[in-house]
Amino acid sequence: MDSDPSAFPLSLASRRMGAVMIFSLLGVMFGGAVLTYRLVALPAYLASPLHQDLWRAGHAHAALFLVLTLVCLPWIDAARFSEALRWGVRVLISSASVTFPAAFFFAAPTPAAVEATPALWLLVPGAILLASGLLLLVWGLLRRAPNSSHTHP
Ligand code: HEM
Repeated sequence: MDSDPSAFPLSLASRRMGAVMIFSLLGVMFGGAVLTYRLVALPAYLASPLHQDLWRAGHAHAALFLVLTLVCLPWIDAARFSEALRWGVRVLISSASVTFPAAFFFAAPTPAAVEATPALWLLVPGAILLASGLLLLVWGLLRRAPNSSHTHP
C-alpha cells in the first residue's frame, strides 16, 4: 500500500527538525567508531578512567538526547502552544544534544587529563535549558483550550 506523507501527523517544522536529528545520529555513529578505535588501539585511552568515562558519557548523551528530541517532536506538535513557543520548546529540548556532549568531551579533552576541566559546568545551564523545555512541554500538553469549561481536552 502506498503511504501518503502528507497524512503523517507531523508539522513541516517537526519533519525538518526530525531530519536534522536523524542525520546527526550519523555523527554519533562516527563518534562510536572513534571510541571503538581508541578502545582497541590507544592504550592511553584505557589507562585514563576519567577520560574514558567522560567520553563514553559524551557519546551516550549525544545519542540519548537526539532520540529524546525525536520522541518529543510529535508531542510538541500536539501541545497547546503558539508557533513561537513551539519553536522555543523544540530548541530548548534539542539543545541538550549539544550542551551535554560538549560538557563531557571538553571536561577531559585528552587521556592526560587527571581532573575534569571547568567545561563540565556546562552541564548546569544545559540541564536548566532541558528541564525548562520539558516542563513547558508538560504544561502545553495539560493546559485546557481557551474558553473550554468542560472536562474534555
Ligand atoms: C557506528 C556506530 C556506533 C559505534 C561503533 C558505537 C560504539 C560504542 C562504544 C565503543 C561504546 C563504549 C565506549 C566505552 O565504554 O568506552 C558505546 C557506548 C554507547 N553507545 Fe555507541 N556506538 C555507535 C552508535 C551508537 C548509537 C547510534 C547509539 C544510540 C542511538 C549509541 C548509544 C550508546 C550508548 C547509550 C552508550 C553507553 C553505553 C554504556 O556505557 O552502558 N551508540 N558505543
